[in-house]
Amino acid sequence: MKTLTLGVLGSGKGSNFDAILHAIQFENLPAKIGVVISDVETAAILDIARNHNLPAIFHPPGKFKTKLEPEHEQSLVTQLQAHHVDLVVLAGYMRVLKEPMLAAFSKRIINIHPSLLPKFPGLRAWEQALHSGDTETGCTVHFVDAGVDAGPVIAQSKVPIFPDDTAATLHQRIQIAEHTLYPAVIRQFAEGKIGG
Ligand code: GRF
Repeated sequence: MKTLTLGVLGSGKGSNFDAILHAIQFENLPAKIGVVISDVETAAILDIARNHNLPAIFHPPGKFKTKLEPEHEQSLVTQLQAHHVDLVVLAGYMRVLKEPMLAAFSKRIINIHPSLLPKFPGLRAWEQALHSGDTETGCTVHFVDAGVDAGPVIAQSKVPIFPDDTAATLHQRIQIAEHTLYPAVIRQFAEGKIGG
């Protein structure tokens, strides 16, 4: 079986990346990290990569807050291709991707979102769920398309919402579920059960 090369994009603390690394190191996930790229120079996800002697790149995003300038997005494609990335894994990457990335990695970009999509796309999805009165929420891994948290769903994991939950306790419970779901989905890609 070919080892799947991952390109991980993140803007934050990198707990999902950490879970993927753990699965590679200790659970025989047949994948390797080609590169970790962040649009935030100080993001902890880059420190995690560097601590594991993995390529870690700060990729300046340009002037926009939630997307990349086209030439910046094209240089992101170039960086990922230079590291022979098969699958782009968004792990807390806070920018919408557009044509250069979507064309270069068609059906090969996935994201994890902290709700049961299509419910609660966008920011702070766990707070949206908490305030909705629902008794369960969860997390979703989906293909990335031009929408926000909108591409086809690959897998979901449910978590309960308890009456005494706060935003923090619910978010923490969702993240624990994410850390199992994301490596499991990547394993399906690596084993050829998704993609091709
Ligand atoms: C996760 O909760 C994920 O669902 C969302 O961003 C968060 C990233 O967290 N897209 P981390 O950086 O992996 O800890």
